[in-house]
Amino acid sequence: MKTDTIVILSQRELDKMRKAGRLAAQLLQHLESMVKPGVNTLQLNDEAERWTQAHGAKSAPLGYKGFPKSICTSVNEVVCHGIPNAKQILRDGDIINIDVTPIVDGYHGDTSKTFLVGSPSPKAKKLVEVTQECLRRGIAEVKPGARIGDIGAAIQEYAESQGFSVVRDFVGHGVSNIFHTAPDIPHYGTRGKGKRLRPGMVFTIEPMINEGTWEVEVLSDGWTALTRDRKLSAQFEHTLAVTEDGVEILTQAEGDFSP
Ligand code: MF3
Ligand code: CO
Ligand code: CO
Repeated sequence: MKTDTIVILSQRELDKMRKAGRLAAQLLQHLESMVKPGVNTLQLNDEAERWTQAHGAKSAPLGYKGFPKSICTSVNEVVCHGIPNAKQILRDGDIINIDVTPIVDGYHGDTSKTFLVGSPSPKAKKLVEVTQECLRRGIAEVKPGARIGDIGAAIQEYAESQGFSVVRDFVGHGVSNIFHTAPDIPHYGTRGKGKRLRPGMVFTIEPMINEGTWEVEVLSDGWTALTRDRKLSAQFEHTLAVTEDGVEILTQAEGDFSP
C-alpha cells in the first residue's frame, strides 16, 4: 500500500534491507549468465523463481497488483514491466532489462540492469552506457540535506546532454517492508526542489532513458510499457540507503562495484 509518510529505518530494518539487497544483486548476477541469443524470457523468469525459492525468499512481483510473473523482462522498445513469455526469444543485437525484487524476511531488494545480447548497435550500446551513468550520477547526489530534486536534475542534465530523453511516467520509490511507498524519486527535475534527504531513508533510483521521445504507451495487457515511437529504452536500478555522511548501495553483490 502506498503511504505518503517517508519512513526512517532502524538499524535492525537496515540490516534486513542489506540482506534482501544482497540477494537481489546475486539473483541478477545469476540471471545475467543466462542472457544469450536463443534464450526466451520465460526461461529467465522460471530460473529466477526457482533460485529465489531455493534461497528462502519470495518474488515480490508475482501477484503484485495482478502482475503474472516473478520478474520483469523489458526488451528493446519496452520501457519497463515487460512480462516474461516463452515466445519471446532473445536475438543477437537485443538489449534486455531484467528487474528483480526478492523479499527476504519481509524486506524488499529491488534492482535491475540492462544487458546486451550478443552485439547490439553502437547507438544501443551508447544508450545502455548513458543510462548506467545516469544511475551513477543520481546516486552521487544522495547525502543528508540534499533534496530529491537534485537526483532528478543530475540524471536529466546528463541524459539530455547525450541526446536522450527521460521517462516521466515511472519514478523511483521508497522501499522497505512495502514494495512501493513514499517518497517518489523522479528522474527529472530541478536542483534545490523537493524534500530533504535524511539518514535512514531508503529508496530506489531507476532511470528509464529513451533513444527518442520520453512518451510511453501501455499495452492492453495492462503492464508492458513501451516507447511511443518504438525506439529503444534502457534502465538501471539500485536500492539505496541515506547514511550519516552519504549513501549505501544496498543492491550490490560482493565484489561488484558497478554501476
Ligand atoms: N521492480 C519494479 C520497480 O522497480 C516494479 C515491478 S512491479 C510489477 O519498481 F508488478 F511489475 F512487478
Ligand atoms: Co525494480
Ligand atoms: Co523499483
